[in-house]
Amino acid sequence: MKIHNLSESPSILNAFVAEIRDKTIQKDSMRFRRNIERIGEVLGYELSKSLQFEAQNTETPLGVSKSFLPKNDIVLCSILRAGVPLHNGLLNYFDTAENAFISAYRHHKHNPESFEIVVEYLACPSLEGKTLILADPMLATGQSMVATFEALKPFGTPKEVHLVSVIGAQDGVDFIANSFHSNTHLWIAAVDKTLNDKGYIIPGLGDAGDLAFGSKLQH
Ligand code: URA
Repeated sequence: MKIHNLSESPSILNAFVAEIRDKTIQKDSMRFRRNIERIGEVLGYELSKSLQFEAQNTETPLGVSKSFLPKNDIVLCSILRAGVPLHNGLLNYFDTAENAFISAYRHHKHNPESFEIVVEYLACPSLEGKTLILADPMLATGQSMVATFEALKPFGTPKEVHLVSVIGAQDGVDFIANSFHSNTHLWIAAVDKTLNDKGYIIPGLGDAGDLAFGSKLQH
């Protein structure tokens, strides 16, 4: 897997990541969502440099300008619900992308420390020959990413796969590096050291879905 950990070359992106981690700033859920969206925009911009481009002439009022424009057919797939602000950020830059949504959640069967990933809802166009961008803001164990990719297989074989995440744990990054094809790219804003016994990233930021959309009742 080609891992692009953008925190390794410090940029303004680090300021957005610091804000979503900050427990005081987190009280403003609109700012939390907007920062995740901004991170999606930056990750999307970086990812765009690896797409395929073709020359196209554009007529201006005064002449003709030759531009190199991306030619990939992109499908942007996000995992509900925490993935929504990241999806919006990516979609702000990939104007013509098709979209897929999947619900994947942790089902704690017997105790809080063990869970399985349950996929329930899936809406997806054909992926055949397309560029799949799979977005999940918190790459904790990596199991949701892998379960999602498995669930997408009946929709066709993408030409290339890009995984996009905001914060990962090293264990999760290692897990997906072993699970996805070596040509897959991972674009990530920060990688933290560890997970706690409930599968949360440490230091991470807490529950991204709750911070973006409010807490939920457990069932
Ligand atoms: N999902 C989150 O929202 N946070 C984590 O730390 C791990 C998974």
